[in-house]
Amino acid sequence: MILLTGGCGFIGSAFLLQWLSHTDEPVVNLDLLTYAGNPANLASIQDDPRYHFVQGDIADSKVVASLLARYRPRAVLHFAAESHVDRSISGPLAFAETNVVGTLKLLDAALAYWRTLESPAAAAFRFLHVSTDEVYGSLGPDAAGFTEANRYEPNSPYSASKAASDHFVRAYRHTYGLPTLTTNCSNNYGPRQFPEKLIPLMIHNALHAKPMPVYGDGQQIRDWLHVDDHCHALRAVLDRGRVGESYNIGGRSELSNMAVVEAICRNLDILRPRAGGQPHASLIAHVGDRPGHDRRYAIDDSKISGELGWNPSIAFDEGVRQTVQWYLDHEDWVQSIVSGAYRRSAQRNYSASTEFVARAVA
Ligand code: NAD
Ligand code: TYD
Repeated sequence: MILLTGGCGFIGSAFLLQWLSHTDEPVVNLDLLTYAGNPANLASIQDDPRYHFVQGDIADSKVVASLLARYRPRAVLHFAAESHVDRSISGPLAFAETNVVGTLKLLDAALAYWRTLESPAAAAFRFLHVSTDEVYGSLGPDAAGFTEANRYEPNSPYSASKAASDHFVRAYRHTYGLPTLTTNCSNNYGPRQFPEKLIPLMIHNALHAKPMPVYGDGQQIRDWLHVDDHCHALRAVLDRGRVGESYNIGGRSELSNMAVVEAICRNLDILRPRAGGQPHASLIAHVGDRPGHDRRYAIDDSKISGELGWNPSIAFDEGVRQTVQWYLDHEDWVQSIVSGAYRRSAQRNYSASTEFVARAVA
């Protein structure tokens, strides 16, 4: 089986759903259920016998060690993180605690476990670290996309914490021989993204006739990748990636923030026209810029494409249309986040699994 961290978040839940629809291999999901973790994301698999959930912290070495000893996974896939740049600007410490110290403690527990494995299980074991393209910093308008050889130049507390975690993963490979893999992916979009991120926030505000806040001039460029394509890429890296290597993953879809927001508005105009008939774009409001805002990210994906044969398959126009439709079909999902109901229900439903961990550790 595999052990996944952060599986109740946006990308981890998409990965779990895709994993269980492609394989019978069981999976255990270790998630602390921070504000970003929503068990409702996994409602469709909660009774699946192949799926095990444990509420716990990657930084809790005893819990992680007990899970590794109990489930004996062939791989650890590490998604758990603090992931929002704006939050990292207002509160960087949590990013160091989770993304740096948490990852380091997880690596250490994985190393201790890996050392107990005999060949061939030890040789087959993988620690896959899910990271971001933001570690490379910001590109000029005409610069080539990031390759894996780009130097790290993280600019936000978020990207600095992810860069530090990438370095620890590298060090655990180099120093101790732990069989690691690292992926650096561009901006993801799709269903179940927490509504603090650009695309779901814009859809939510537009549906409630609230201003759609574009930071600065809105000409910052991101490379957008559908989350399901990202999950396919992670499975390819887990299966066929060369140990110790890192792989950049992108969507071949560089767009300015304004272009993304306008695409959302166009889709909403068709799928949910406003009562008075005004275009949703009339809600766009330029607001003050994010401090230190990176201007452009772009990915050169020739390594993963050439070595592993992975290519993105969902074009942005189609992906964003489906995503807008998903949020229209799941307004209750967003509402339970906005009202805070998802936190109360998570605390109620998962006290039992916390007790399980306490027992397993005792
Ligand atoms: P998310 O914020 O939606 O989810 C994070 C999950 O981790 C939540 O379920 C949360 O409860 C859990 N978590 C947080 N701290 C934890 C801890 N200490 N112990 C256990 N669980 C904990 O994040 P996401 O957007 O799904 O991103 C997943 C990973 O992918 C992150 O590592 C992120 O850096 C990386 N990434 C994200 C993007 C993107 O566009 N969202 C792009 C590239 C890379
Ligand atoms: P975000 O979804 O926070 O991802 P990241 O900062 O990791 O790229 O933001 C994507 C882009 O959208 C980024 O350039 C900041 C911008 N943005 C806005 O203009 N308005 C908003 O309300 C948000 C949340 C983001």
